[in-house]
Amino acid sequence: MSAAIPTIERPRTICIAGGTGFVGQALISHLMRAGHALRVLTRASSHAIDLRPLPSVELAVGDVYSAEFLRRSIDGCDVVINLVGILNERGFGGAGFRRAHVEFTAALLRALVQLRVPRLLQMSALNADAERGASHYLRSKGAAEQLIRATGPALDWTIFRPSVIFGPADSLTNRFAQLLRLTAGRLPLARAAARFAPIYVGDVAAAFIQALHGGASSRKCYELCGPEVLTLEQIVRITASAAHLPCHIYRLPDAVARLQASIMQLLPGKPFSVDNYRSLLTDSVCHDDDGLRLGPARARLSVLAPLWLAPKSPAPAHPVP
Ligand SMILES: NC(=O)c1ccc[n+]([C@@H]2O[C@H](COP(=O)([O-])OP(=O)(O)OC[C@H]3O[C@@H](n4cnc5c(N)ncnc54)[C@H](OP(=O)(O)O)[C@@H]3O)[C@@H](O)[C@H]2O)c1
Repeated sequence: MSAAIPTIERPRTICIAGGTGFVGQALISHLMRAGHALRVLTRASSHAIDLRPLPSVELAVGDVYSAEFLRRSIDGCDVVINLVGILNERGFGGAGFRRAHVEFTAALLRALVQLRVPRLLQMSALNADAERGASHYLRSKGAAEQLIRATGPALDWTIFRPSVIFGPADSLTNRFAQLLRLTAGRLPLARAAARFAPIYVGDVAAAFIQALHGGASSRKCYELCGPEVLTLEQIVRITASAAHLPCHIYRLPDAVARLQASIMQLLPGKPFSVDNYRSLLTDSVCHDDDGLRLGPARARLSVLAPLWLAPKSPAPAHPVP
């Protein structure tokens, strides 16, 4: 058995890189409720508009890849949380993924070691693997994990590997709902049978809090999965039902799906890329033999999705007395 991490009841300051995004915002509200003081590192203050009014959140705005900025920003932190991540890069060769996932983690680790910050929580992804990962995304996430595993004993770390994450501001259900609206419910779907264990963003945040408060083993990696395994097609159908949208799915053969990806990655905003397609080649489900779990994660997509996807009923014409 591995040693338990010493309980950190109320760290004075938790620094969060990538805290302005979907997971970051949910995690920040959990951390605030637990009474922690937070410092969020961001490339632009305009990315943190929702965080600015929060009294216990301090913003550190600058070049997050600069060693000097990182040292200044995490100085005095008891814990650093790294949520930096991208699903698509600007180019096509993997350099963008390596920069955001590997180079950023390397720079962060150097700063952590220099300043003797004792604890790192790192967000990775299921199937991350530096050598065998199916996509640039998964290989770069795996390479970042390798850097962390190679650090000396002075740094206590926990790595999280979630399946796909859902919640009110996700890019999963909201993206599919948008596509279904645009196509009047007729959706050509790549890798329709790919399997996921969607996990609610609140359950992800709860796992981070659990690890932070001593509920995780030292220097270990935890997979995070929701309570049910769903195919991509089922996720789209649940989304359609929650949003009251029609849904006719055309399951694309892999050769056509790959062609679709190679065309869609040329469109503005890269709605789907060959790298995304490659990530879908491996089911994103937890591995039962691993044994390490935090949780339990109980929230089901079909139960929660209507909360943010269901059409809002129109306001009454006259105020109800
Ligand atoms: N959402 C999911 O389903 C899911 C599933 C598995 C793993 N994950 C991982 O969980 C983490 C959080 O995901 P999320 O859904 O919250 O992502 P998100 O909403 O896109 O937020 C990602 C954050 O990373 C920072 N960032 C983005 N591009 C960057 C770049 N090129 N260089 C440096 N920083 C950059 C952004 O911060 P600023 O713009 O403020 O600098 C942003 O707040 C990521 O590591 C992701 O890979 C997510």
